[in-house]
Amino acid sequence: MAGAAVTLLVPVLRGAAPTPLALPPLPYAPDALEPHLSARTLDFHYNRHHQGYLDNLNRLVAGTPLAAQSLEAIIAAVAGKPEQQGLFNNAAQVWNHSFFWNCMKPNGGGKPVGRLLARIEKDFKSYDAFRAAFEEAALTQFGSGWAWLVQDGETLRIVKTANADTPLTRGQIPLLTCDVWEHAYYLDYQNRRKAFVQVFLDHLVNWDFVAGRVHGGS
Ligand SMILES: [Fe+2]
Repeated sequence: MAGAAVTLLVPVLRGAAPTPLALPPLPYAPDALEPHLSARTLDFHYNRHHQGYLDNLNRLVAGTPLAAQSLEAIIAAVAGKPEQQGLFNNAAQVWNHSFFWNCMKPNGGGKPVGRLLARIEKDFKSYDAFRAAFEEAALTQFGSGWAWLVQDGETLRIVKTANADTPLTRGQIPLLTCDVWEHAYYLDYQNRRKAFVQVFLDHLVNWDFVAGRVHGGS
């Protein structure tokens, strides 16, 4: 089930190698998303939180057969196993964050164009309806988690996941995500998650990256 989706991870996490795993570099300078996301936020989020998940992951797999596996293989191996929840949480958070960085770019956001816009209009009726539904998912994810645009078969859907959970383990192809853990926005927006999500949609989304991940269709 997850095999097809895992195959699609390779372009996102290019360079990810067997243990010790290393973080892919940010795809832009830490201050490149200002004024919407500060360099301070990117510094804490990437160098402390993301790196922290990776350090935990490398520690947890050290000396086990998983130490020789790719990140994607580790996630597939431990998903759904309560006794390995901690390992799953850290592995999935490493992947989710690497994906999240690629979902943003300077001067991004707004309405996509071309075939991606047509796919969104087919499945959500309009871009505005998509935007409202994505914002709703991000705002109604109680506590920590993620809002996603995914491809489920031939259909684009919006889903939300709690904590470290990821659509990868559901056989869905992640196309876009917004991190709604408070650490993603608190330094810049404090408790105003809605303001952060609106800025994400209107100024940060890398639609070229999203479009490159959509498969099939017209
Ligand atoms: Fe995060």
